[in-house]
Amino acid sequence: MVEKIKKIQQDFEKDIQAATSPESLEEMRIKYIGRKSELAAISKMFPTLSSEEKAQAGQILNVCKKTIEQELDKKKTEIQKTSTSKDAIDVTIDAIKKNIGSLHPLTKTMDAIVEIFMSLGYRVAEGNEIETEFANFEGLNIPLDHPARDDFDTFYVDKDRLLRSHTSTVQIRVMEKQAPPIQMIMPGRVYRPDAVDATHSFMFHQVEGLMVNKNIRFSDLKGTLNIFAKQMFGDDVKLRFRPSFFPFTEPSAEIDVSCIMCKGKGCRVCSQTGWLEILGAGMVNPKVFKNVDYDPDKWTGFAFGMGVERIAMLKYGITDIRLFFENNKQFLSQF
Ligand code: DAH
Repeated sequence: MVEKIKKIQQDFEKDIQAATSPESLEEMRIKYIGRKSELAAISKMFPTLSSEEKAQAGQILNVCKKTIEQELDKKKTEIQKTSTSKDAIDVTIDAIKKNIGSLHPLTKTMDAIVEIFMSLGYRVAEGNEIETEFANFEGLNIPLDHPARDDFDTFYVDKDRLLRSHTSTVQIRVMEKQAPPIQMIMPGRVYRPDAVDATHSFMFHQVEGLMVNKNIRFSDLKGTLNIFAKQMFGDDVKLRFRPSFFPFTEPSAEIDVSCIMCKGKGCRVCSQTGWLEILGAGMVNPKVFKNVDYDPDKWTGFAFGMGVERIAMLKYGITDIRLFFENNKQFLSQF
């Protein structure tokens, strides 16, 4: 009987090495110490044994049972440990970030500009990037001998079609199509055969504005641009109107904002002047109204045009225009 018990214990020792799951441990528990196990059968034989045999075998039987129980428990915790480390959720680990991208800084800037004007009641219009000479030049009172007409200053697609060199073309398109009053904002790409450097690109973006109604005055233009500049760059920004020339507006002005870097004190960004030029504007030239069959005695209006890259560079402190177009993820992911 003692031999039998020892054999059972040996078998158990072998079996337990191979157990890898809580289920196999449970099977072993039933097999070795369950009600129908060999050890249980042996216990049942005890009444037939002599008291000497009982004492000897009983002790071995108890030790054997205890050892099996302990080893099953030990193995169980071992298995639990390894399986929890594999399946457990580590709540301290960083969440996996989904790379969903972000809006391009130029899109953001363009959206911001458009949104300010929409809040003032402007509607958005878009024109074609390939345009006629009429929409790009003649309609806007840019005479034949104007330097911008030169082949070298404009990308021509064929003899009389070109890539628009400004979004002022959309003024013509809108006015050709509809009668006043007009209050429109017109964002889009424009093209110029400029050599690429830190501040020039052969393709860039502009936002054009056009207001046509009765009795529109220069003060309306000033008020509108003031609201725009303050919303775009902050309440403490000042505007400066400098007399200028554009064939399609009369009078015309170039408009500066007080330098947003140094607040007008003078720094490298504003070349020590305290001012940054941000747009061109003026009162729509009556000749332009005539070109689109509007009665210049009846209608007045103002127009303005601004470069989106320039505004984005000022807003974000970007010093090289090429960064917008290089698709450098490290640059773009900052926005
Ligand atoms: N089209 C001009 C340019 O590209 C910008 C401009 C100036 C637009 C004055 C206007 C304006 O509408 O009135 O330089």
